Amino acid sequence: MSKLILDSSNPVDPGQVVWRSPSNIALIKYWGKHGVQLPRNPSLSLTLASSCTDTMLQYAPRETPDDGQVELDFFFHEEENESFRAKTLEFLNSLAPTMPFLRQLKLTVRTGNSFPHSAGIASSASGMSALALCLCSLEDKLFGTLRDADAFDQKASVLARLGSGSACRSIFPYAAVWGATQYVQGSSDEFAVPVGDQIHDMFHDFHDDILIVSREEKSVSSRAGHALMEGNPYAEPRYAQARARMGTLLEAMKGGDLATFGKIVEDEALTLHALMMCSNPSYTLMRPASLAIIEKVHQYRADTGNPVYFTLDAGPNVHLLYPGEIITDVRKFIDDHLVQHCEDGYVQQDWVGEGPEEM
Ligand code: PMV
Repeated sequence: MSKLILDSSNPVDPGQVVWRSPSNIALIKYWGKHGVQLPRNPSLSLTLASSCTDTMLQYAPRETPDDGQVELDFFFHEEENESFRAKTLEFLNSLAPTMPFLRQLKLTVRTGNSFPHSAGIASSASGMSALALCLCSLEDKLFGTLRDADAFDQKASVLARLGSGSACRSIFPYAAVWGATQYVQGSSDEFAVPVGDQIHDMFHDFHDDILIVSREEKSVSSRAGHALMEGNPYAEPRYAQARARMGTLLEAMKGGDLATFGKIVEDEALTLHALMMCSNPSYTLMRPASLAIIEKVHQYRADTGNPVYFTLDAGPNVHLLYPGEIITDVRKFIDDHLVQHCEDGYVQQDWVGEGPEEM
């Protein structure tokens, strides 16, 4: 790889790059990692549209001498944020050995989310993917090394993964697979690959209404949760299950078989939380309201036959997944029966989207 170092032959004028990048919702969950952010099993997600982060990366030649650290200012919703700055700085410093130009510039990150502060919606996938895309745009502006769109996306996915594992899947439209699997050509543990063109059109018009059961910060972070998988007695069978399921779910999504889709997706959510409950120490992130919603979804499906399914991230909020053609019915069901379980009645309406946008 070329050494990405600035020298006097390519002086830098101050400039900026801006990306909007969405969150994603995993259908087959990544839970358990090793090495440098490598997954124990492959995962598959839908790329969302309305839960996004906008990130501007401003750059200028560095005025202070290189002290071995990236020089960074950080603004979140226009305000300086020391805790985000520290995390971002650690990430950028970890990239500097292979991207030394990062230490030769003065960098300013200005970022913000499309969803309310502390809505209980994780912003690491949208935030890290937006930053990774900005870094790739910057590299390409300075060195012209990422002109090829596939190379650009692949590097963005690698960088996003290094920032926050699941963020690597947000780079691609509609749906992505992260982790080497025999069922997806070119798949890798190092980056995600797009699978949006391998699934039925119905998944391009698909909704994810996020029922916010609690806005509180999780009691156990994802980082700690991944680590607890190392001592979990069910870890190996779980990884084997996820590997095998990838084939079945992709087949169901190709054929538009929603019954099989829903069965796997709901089981994945409950398995994720069951793994937390049988970790040592054990913990629960679901709340009574999460269970109340899940039971109502079962009942609603039995009563109406409508294909509405739930999934959960590592938290209490419930994601309702359904095809666009039944939106009117489902929104009425949410308003009449589910909103009462949400904190301040808050629902983040989201849907499958076309992936990040350079702005
Ligand atoms: O990307 P992380 O380290 O925040 O882990 C995310 C794990 C889950 O959201 C629970 C599942 C997934 O695959 O996104």
